[in-house]
Amino acid sequence: MKGFNTRSIHGGEEEKVKDAVTMPIFQTSNFLADDAKYASERSETFYTRVGNPTIGVLERKLASLFAGTGGVFFSSGMGAITTIFHSFLKHGDNIVVSKNVYGGTQNLLRELPDEGVEVRRFDQSDYGSITGLLDGRTKIVYVESMVNPNLILTDIEAVKAKISSSDALLVVDNTFLSPYNFRPLEFGADIDVQSLTKYINGHSDVVAGFAGFKDPEVESKVRRKMVQFGTNGAPFDAFLVNRGVKTLGPRMEIHNRNALAVANYLKDKPEVLRVSYPGLGHVPACYENCPGFGGVVYFEMRDRETAKRFMRSCSIFQEATSLAGVESLVTVPSLTSHASLKESELAEVGISPGGVRLSAGIEDIQDLIEDIKWAIKECVR
Ligand SMILES: Cc1ncc(COP(=O)(O)O)c(C=O)c1O
Repeated sequence: MKGFNTRSIHGGEEEKVKDAVTMPIFQTSNFLADDAKYASERSETFYTRVGNPTIGVLERKLASLFAGTGGVFFSSGMGAITTIFHSFLKHGDNIVVSKNVYGGTQNLLRELPDEGVEVRRFDQSDYGSITGLLDGRTKIVYVESMVNPNLILTDIEAVKAKISSSDALLVVDNTFLSPYNFRPLEFGADIDVQSLTKYINGHSDVVAGFAGFKDPEVESKVRRKMVQFGTNGAPFDAFLVNRGVKTLGPRMEIHNRNALAVANYLKDKPEVLRVSYPGLGHVPACYENCPGFGGVVYFEMRDRETAKRFMRSCSIFQEATSLAGVESLVTVPSLTSHASLKESELAEVGISPGGVRLSAGIEDIQDLIEDIKWAIKECVR
């Protein structure tokens, strides 16, 4: 198999359209039809909700980068997660999920009991408790590989070992690591779901999602649901993501380097109570060969007001809710991604009101450190 960067650039693009070197946008909702297309569940030249050549190229490229056999492109990360849940969870079923997941996913999980689906939670510090939560109606075990925002790593192999006697699918949200740093399908996950909005597109100009699979039957169920729900992504977004992903490897190298330098700088500052960045310490075995841990660094200041002053004293790190683009961003998660959680729920998942999430972009590291140095000085004045 060719290397990661070669596949990022050329993967899925083997067949050229009108001799174009890169895949053009098929900005069309509709295609000329025939009997073969009427009979096909996934023609790429029939109707764009079902398939589209620009989307097909991206799906094949990402499936290869995720170490999967196939994958489905969605309108957003949440579109992907919602579609996966509804592909496998019916009234009377249950889902086992780690307590610590992204706020948008928490909101979705809150809806499931109204649909007759039970949500059973476990603490990542106690993988042993998973076994007691499983039964014949457990259809999905759901975790994030690296947790938003405080960057705890889930031991995917330990979770897989605990559920090996169950038929439940292991679904891993790997948004915070990207396939460059880690590929959950290689460690026992059945589905790797990611918000393409983050590293994979990388330029903060698209909202999209993707799920990678290693079993074509599982993929087929999710694809059918995507077509029914209309959670498909758009051709123009697929074109942009296909362009963005070509530089994923080089961008991740810089994100990894910059964030590690930022974490090392912050950890010695007396104004900073705690820094979380996996590159600073011991990691579970499945992460030992990761080239790095991405651009996000989480740290805690004494209270929310200090955290807000820090955020607003930065100038290169811009105050914004997302992450993982080429430009550096800063947010206070208790005000944004986790605003839906009560104070007690925040404490339960280890997020402090004074917590700050930095997303180190790919600017020059000396400029990022200067920005942080200045903001720390300003926020404690
Ligand atoms: C870990 C994680 N998963 C999923 C999502 C949802 O992705 P999207 O915003 O593309 O719907 C996000 C968004 O921030 C996220 O951080």
